Amino acid sequence: MPAPTRRALLAGAGALAAMRVLPARAGSPAAHRLVIAPAEVPLVAPGGPDTAVWSYNGGVPGPVIRARQGERLQVEVENHLPVDTTVHWHGVRVPHAMDGVPHLTQAPIPARGGRHLYAFDLPDAGTFWYHPHLLSGEAVGRGLAGALVVEAREPLQVDRDLAWVLQDWRVTREAALAPFGGFHDAAHAGRLGNVVTLNGSAAEAFAVRSRERLRLRLVNASSARVYALEFRELAPLVIATDGHPIEPHAPEGRRVVLGPGQRTDLIVDCLGDPGAVAAVVDHGDPRFAYGLVNLVYDPDPIREEYAPAPTPIAPNPLPAPDLGAAEPLVLRLEGGAMGGLTREMAGRGVAWTLNGLSAHEGHHDHAVLATLRSGRSYRVEIINDTAWRHPMHLHGHVFRVLTRNGVPVARPEWRDTALVEPRERVEIAFVAGEPGDWVVHCHVLEHQGAGMAGLFRIAPA
Ligand code: C2O
Ligand code: CU
Repeated sequence: MPAPTRRALLAGAGALAAMRVLPARAGSPAAHRLVIAPAEVPLVAPGGPDTAVWSYNGGVPGPVIRARQGERLQVEVENHLPVDTTVHWHGVRVPHAMDGVPHLTQAPIPARGGRHLYAFDLPDAGTFWYHPHLLSGEAVGRGLAGALVVEAREPLQVDRDLAWVLQDWRVTREAALAPFGGFHDAAHAGRLGNVVTLNGSAAEAFAVRSRERLRLRLVNASSARVYALEFRELAPLVIATDGHPIEPHAPEGRRVVLGPGQRTDLIVDCLGDPGAVAAVVDHGDPRFAYGLVNLVYDPDPIREEYAPAPTPIAPNPLPAPDLGAAEPLVLRLEGGAMGGLTREMAGRGVAWTLNGLSAHEGHHDHAVLATLRSGRSYRVEIINDTAWRHPMHLHGHVFRVLTRNGVPVARPEWRDTALVEPRERVEIAFVAGEPGDWVVHCHVLEHQGAGMAGLFRIAPA
C-alpha cells in the first residue's frame, strides 16, 4: 500500500476548498433517526469522483448526534443495507439491552427494511461514537460511523465545538473500495487504507480565525489506523480522553495518539496571524508522516486579545474502583503473524486469542474470559504477547489506566479503549457494572473478526 494521501489520488482536487462542517442536530427531546443505506460520495477528492459507501442518512461519517448529559437519547434506526446490522454506542454506559451486540444483546436489524429503536439515558458528558457491531470490519470500513456528542450541563465556552471524525479507506485507482476480507490483514496490522478523510472530506484546508478557540473532538473511526497527530505552530491541550475529563495538559511528545475507537478532546487556540497556515501532521505510521490538514487563518481575527486559560470541565459520575480491594484478572493477548499464530488456527480463520480462547464474529460464539460480580472492583492486567498493537475495548464500562509495564502512568486517564503496544503490559481498573455478558475486544476490526473478542460475564451482586 502506498502512503495515504490527502490529495486526490485521481485528478482535480481544489486545494483550498473549505472543509465541510458536519451538520449538528440540536436534540430536544433528543429524538433522532438514522437511515442506513448505500450512498455515493466524493471521497478521494472534493468534487468527485464518487465512491460507493454505506451511510447513515446519506453521508460519511453519519450525522453528529448531539444531546445533553442526563437526557434520554432516542434513535430510530432503519436498515436499507443488503446486510443485517446493529448500532453500538461506543463508550456510552448503556443498559445491556441497548449495547448493539448481535445475538447477545439484540437480534440483528434485518437487511432491506428492518427497524429498531434505541433508547437510553446519557449518564456521562463527552465525545462518543456509533457504529455497527455486525461484520464490523466491512461495515465500518464501508463508512458506517458517526460521532455522538453529549454536552455537559455547563459546557466549556469555546468559539466552535467540532467533531473531527477520522476514517481510513482502502480505495482502488477507480475510487472504489477495495474488496474486504483477507486473512493477511487480519493476522497483521488490520486493513490499513490509502486515503484518510476528516469528516468524510479529502480537503486539505480547514478555515480558522486568528485568536479563535476551538474544541476539537477527535474520533478515530478507522478500522486499523493509529494516528499520532502533531499540531505544528500550535499548542493544543488535551482536556478529555474517550470522553472523560482530564486535567488539561499538552500531549506527550507533542503528539495526540489515537488508536482505533479512541477519542481525544482538545482545546486549540489559534494564535497565528491572519493569513498564516498551521499544519496538522500524522506520524502514526512510523514509516512515514503526511499532512492531515492545514489550518488556514482567515484575514479577519475573531478578536484582538488572547482567550484566558480554559477552566477544567466537570468530571463524569464514574464509579471509582477500590484499588485496595480490587481483584486481579489477566487478559493475555496472543497470536498474529510473527507470534503465536498456528496453522491450525489459520485453518479456522482465527488469528488471535484472548486467554487462549477465540471468538469468530460470524459465529457469535464469544467465550467467557472471566466472571465478575456487579459492584466489585477489578484490576485487569492486559498482557500483549504479540508483535502488534491492540486497542482493547470493554463495552458498557469506563476504566482507569493505572500502569504501563508496571510503571504508574503520569495521568491515570479514564478510557473505554486502551491502546496496548507490542509486548506491553497495561493495567486497568474498574467497577463491574450491570449484570450481563459484556464484550471485550480489540478495536482493530480485522483482529476482532479473527478471534480477538470475548466476554466478561458480570454476575449479580
Ligand atoms: Cu466500538 Cu465493540 O466497539
Ligand atoms: Cu488487535
